[in-house]
Formats: sequence, structure tokens, C-alpha cells
Amino acid sequence: MSLPRVQSRSGTNADVDATAPKVHVVTFGCQMNKYDSLLVEGRFQRHGYRIVGEADEADVLLFNTCSVRDHAEERVFSWIGELKRRKETRPELVIGVLGCMAQRVGEEIFRRAGHVDLVVGTRAFHNLPDMVAELRQRRANGLAPKKARVIALSLGEQPDDDREGEPYTGGRLGYLAVMRGCDLNCTFCVVPKTRGRVLSRPLDELEAEARWMVAQGAQVITLLGQTINSYGEDLAAPGPNEPKHLGRQGRPSLADVLYRLQQLDGLVRIRMITGHAAYVTPALARAIAECPKVDRFFPLPVQSGSDRILRAMKRGYTTELYRDRLSLLRDAVPDIELGTDWIVGFPGETDEDFEASERWLAEQAYVQNYVFKYSPRPDTHAGEALVDDVPEATKTERNQRLLRTAERTQLLRLQGWIGKRVQAFVEGKNERGLLVARSFHNLPISFAGEDASIGTVLELEPTDATSFGLFAKRV
Ligand code: SAH
Ligand code: F3S
Repeated sequence: MSLPRVQSRSGTNADVDATAPKVHVVTFGCQMNKYDSLLVEGRFQRHGYRIVGEADEADVLLFNTCSVRDHAEERVFSWIGELKRRKETRPELVIGVLGCMAQRVGEEIFRRAGHVDLVVGTRAFHNLPDMVAELRQRRANGLAPKKARVIALSLGEQPDDDREGEPYTGGRLGYLAVMRGCDLNCTFCVVPKTRGRVLSRPLDELEAEARWMVAQGAQVITLLGQTINSYGEDLAAPGPNEPKHLGRQGRPSLADVLYRLQQLDGLVRIRMITGHAAYVTPALARAIAECPKVDRFFPLPVQSGSDRILRAMKRGYTTELYRDRLSLLRDAVPDIELGTDWIVGFPGETDEDFEASERWLAEQAYVQNYVFKYSPRPDTHAGEALVDDVPEATKTERNQRLLRTAERTQLLRLQGWIGKRVQAFVEGKNERGLLVARSFHNLPISFAGEDASIGTVLELEPTDATSFGLFAKRV
């Protein structure tokens, strides 16, 4: 893979032809979407387009969307609605909807928002410049705007992730999608529908992309995947004379990715989001223990502390099995910190079920907790077949209660770090003028220091804690 031809500053490539068409991408949702949006920008730059920082300046305006909860989709429709008038005065403007909502809603988007020109699902991003060219050609040939539209929703495509000729614009803190999709089928979740089945990228390709990022300034790489530790399950097992990897039947696994990237010069830290208990293995636990660049932190969404609800969610584990998997991690990495996600108000959740979640949170002492109110999604089993019977007010109350439990638990956990020396990577500066760092356990730390230490690893001593992070002094 060669180095980029286009220089870039903070997401814009002002050095290219000023008459080139201008693209702006608005991103909703998760880190994977942010990663995909950078990929889209890179692809356009490779085709001679300019990336602009303002939606108003764009000739091609794209929305990379999220479907996980209902309000995420409604926000996109309201943004797009506001563009209706602009499109009337500037009919040459190209408006596209990309990603999960495009995949899920498809043609219906054209019906709800007649001024949208492009609907592009989660596995067709790499073709976007060609699709825009096709659309413009159709218009130039005199097709009416509605006839010129382009839609691409196949989930069967192998995305082309080769970054040759593209600038890396992700900065110091980079993201790298190691796999896409999910083979599980949690009853509340729309992701298998929007992102398709697991598609893991080959180890060599991941290493090449990581090198390309590091050569252009990435120091931290966060590895991304919907169920990141199922990485490799879809890759071929090696033949009798081929080297064996650490996954099932010698397949590559996330542990192999970690050992590979650990060796990259210039890469300082490696992080991961998001894991699933069913795929936690001793090899993964050992890799986290043995790779000093890998954060001693693992995000392992549990969703509920009630076995009854976990079964209804079809999470693929009981609390007992989840606890066993945590033990694998804790045995190998005794000081590991854990993050998790929760859903409150899933159909049928009783006060007792909810209290089981509260107890589980406190017992496992997660240092990071994301709490969501259940949102019924179309095309999911729970959305279609279960009654959304927990009243909104109860969901809100449980949400607040679980957040309070989380805050108490996080505070205790973080207070445990006071007085201990930690290594931390300094990421930048906050609005109060303090430097902000992440410890090697992925804990946020702020402290007074020099700007020159941004981008370096320092030894710090935490002196105080809140529920969300530590204050420290330099050692
Ligand atoms: N792969 C991850 C989940 C990805 S979705 C896992 O195994 O858990 C990110 C988070 O959004 C989930 O962890 C869940 O807490 C939340 N979420 C997903 N679908 C939801 C829904 N229908 N309602 C509310 N929250 C939801
Ligand atoms: Fe969704 Fe469950 Fe997969 S939450 S992403 S179906 S593990």
C-alpha cells in the first residue's frame, strides 16, 4: 500500500482543485459510522472531490445514519426535511442517505423525503463516487430527478477497504473496523438486519491499514466491530500445512489481531469496542495480558442482570455463563476494568428483573455503563412479536435509577485508583485548560501540565475521583 497522494488538514483537503465538486458527510450514531464516514470521504478525495466542513457549501450532502433506536432515525428525517427548500432553489444538489437507516428503510426513504437522490446501504460505501457520477450523468442526460435516483442495498458485497491513494484524516486517535456485521440475533436489535452477517477482514489487510494510519499520525487505534471478539469466525480454517492461528480450528481470532498490531512501531495504544460474552476465550484473555499496548479494559455489554430477560432477549448467555467469561478475563488480567451496556424496560421486565440488573452492576463493578431505554425496532423479533408493555414513565425511572447505581459504583471503582501510579496516554486539552489522558485501563484522567506532553505517555498519580474520571498529578 503506497502513501497518500493528497495532503489533508482536519478532514478537508483544501490543496486540491478548487473547482472540484464539494462533499460533506454528516454522521450519526456509533464509532463504526464515524469510521465509515472517513472511508467515504477518502474515497471521494481519491476521485478528485473536495471535502468541506460546512453542509451549506456542499454539492454532495450525505447523511450516514443509525437505526439502533427510533429517535436516531427520526432525527435524520428531520434534518433531511429541512433541506427540502434548499433543494428547490438548488436542484443540482445531491442528497444521499447512507448506512443503517438506508439499509433498513430502503425505497421508503424516497417516499418519505422525495428530494433524496441516493440511498446506499452499509456494504456499498466504497462505490459512492461511482454512484454520484452515475446520478449526475443521468441528470445530464435529461432524466427527471426522481428517475435519476440511485439505490444500492446489497449486503452480499465484499467492501473494498484498500486505502491506496487516500489521505488518512482520523488524527492521533484512529479507528479501524476489523469486522462488520453480527451473526447473533438478539431479539431487540436491528444490527444483524442493517449490517448483515459477520464479515471479518484478513489479518494482512488490517495490518496494512494500521500501518497506513500510523504513518500519518495515528498513535492510538481503537479496533471496531459489532461483536468484535467474533472476529475470524467466518474466515477459512487453515489447511494441514498452513500455520494455525488462535481461533476455533486454527482460524484467525481477535487475539491474533492484537499480537499483530502490538508489533507496529509508532503505535502507542490499542483499544477495542465492543465484545460479546459468548466469544470471550482464554486466548483473547491471554492476548490482553501479554500485549502491553492493549488497554486493560474490555467492553462487554450485559444488557440485563435477569436470566429471564436475557433469555427473552436471546443474548446467548445466562448470568452464570457471563460470569464464567468474566472470570477468564479476570484470571488472566486481574486488574482489568470493564464496561457494559444496559437496556431497561425490555418487554416483560418486572421490578425484580430490574433490581437484578442493579445488583449485577454493583457486583461486577463496571467502570463504564451506558444505559438505554428499550425502543421497539421494526424487523426485530421483540419489535414485532412482543408487547412494549413497560410504561414510558417506568422506563424513564429505571433509566435514572440505574444511572445512579452506575454513578455510585463507578465512583467507588475510580476511588480505588487514588494514590496508585498509572501510565496514561495524553490525548488533548479540555475547555478548563487541563490536559486529558486515558490510563492504560481506559480511565479518563485530567491533570495540569504542558501542551508538549500531548501525544506522549506519562506516569500520573490520581489524587481525586468523580463518577466519570480521575484527577491526577504528574509523578
Ligand atoms: N453488539 C453489541 C450491541 C450493539 S448496539 C452487543 O452485543 O451488545 C449498542 C447498544 O445499543 C446495545 O448494547 C444496546 O444496549 C443498545 N440497543 C440496541 N438495540 C436497542 C433497542 N432496540 N432499544 C434500546 N437499546 C438498544
Ligand atoms: Fe445486536 Fe446482539 Fe449482535 S445486540 S449487534 S444482535 S450481539
